[in-house]
Amino acid sequence: MASYDRETEIKAFDDTKAGVKGLVDAGVTQIPPFFRLPPGALKSPEPTSTARAEIPVIDLGIINGDPEERENVVELVRGAAERFGFFQVLNHGIPQSVLDEMLEGVRRFNEQELEVKKRYYTRDSSKIVRFNSNFDLYQSPMANWRDSLACTLAPEPAAKPEELPEVCRDIIMEYTSHIQRLGHLLFELLSEGLGLDTQYLNDLECGKGLSLLSHYYPPCPQPELTLGTSKHTDPDFLTVLLQDNIGGLQVLHEDQWFDVPPIPGALVINIGDLLQLITNDKFKSVEHRVLASKIGPRVSVACFFSTHVYPSERQYGPIKKLLSEKNPPKYKGVTVREYLNVCYSKGLDGKSVLDKFRL
Ligand code: OGA
Ligand code: NI
Repeated sequence: MASYDRETEIKAFDDTKAGVKGLVDAGVTQIPPFFRLPPGALKSPEPTSTARAEIPVIDLGIINGDPEERENVVELVRGAAERFGFFQVLNHGIPQSVLDEMLEGVRRFNEQELEVKKRYYTRDSSKIVRFNSNFDLYQSPMANWRDSLACTLAPEPAAKPEELPEVCRDIIMEYTSHIQRLGHLLFELLSEGLGLDTQYLNDLECGKGLSLLSHYYPPCPQPELTLGTSKHTDPDFLTVLLQDNIGGLQVLHEDQWFDVPPIPGALVINIGDLLQLITNDKFKSVEHRVLASKIGPRVSVACFFSTHVYPSERQYGPIKKLLSEKNPPKYKGVTVREYLNVCYSKGLDGKSVLDKFRL
């Protein structure tokens, strides 16, 4: 009977199409049970480290045509991708006004009239613009204190400007054109870090697909009982994340959670599962999560480099040039679609998807 109640409650919540923000607007002081963490889960594996976060911060501004400066940046990027799977970048070329307006646009979308916002509410992952609360509401063991808007932007079939919500249409187009340029540069630096030709990863079409996933984390009355985002790795090649100044993002490093502190003007870059797969574990796709907070809303925008509904049959396996007798392939080949289908069917349940494709 208990599980029946849970399903009814989840369905009723979903049917409001108002998301977590709807609960907060209604004045809840206790979070519904289906948002609750299993006892002790927040603590595992270890308490948050009190050590200063050492997630590298890399200044891209020094890349100015001088080959030696570029080589230094490549080394920093390679080291970060191998050790942490995460780094932050400064002087990435995207104006501060564009970053600010992108966060504002997400806030406007979530805070507009419910009747307008509701029109975008869907769980159909083939839709190019999707607003919902918890894409995995019906699959995951617990819901997260978060509402999200996802837009597929490349390649075709992708969102046309007029299909995007009006309140954030222009800034999504502008922001993502900057992100595509930055992604191209990052794939160049990562290729060089692997000892491959500069355009290797771009030629493999790692930067061909782009989806924007924006998150709105309303203030939570009982933040110690739930999470903003459950621990997961990203199912893409590379993610560029813009976060506001509230904080709460953490990464798992050597069995401890480390904060990824907000730095004004910085973007957070992390390696996704598919880049770990094709580099045969050289670059690490690392688990991360977002804590819930009494302070909010927190807004963030993740840009995923990965094709989404695009029906490519291209197989991705470990890059042959990186393999040797001492470094045999660890994964079988997979299409992006096969990979994403596994992710969508299980949701954020804390288990690795990458392991399913290990040889
Ligand atoms: C994600 C993610 C972190 C954040 O969208 O995959 O990890 O800060 N987001 O919202
Ligand atoms: Ni993520």
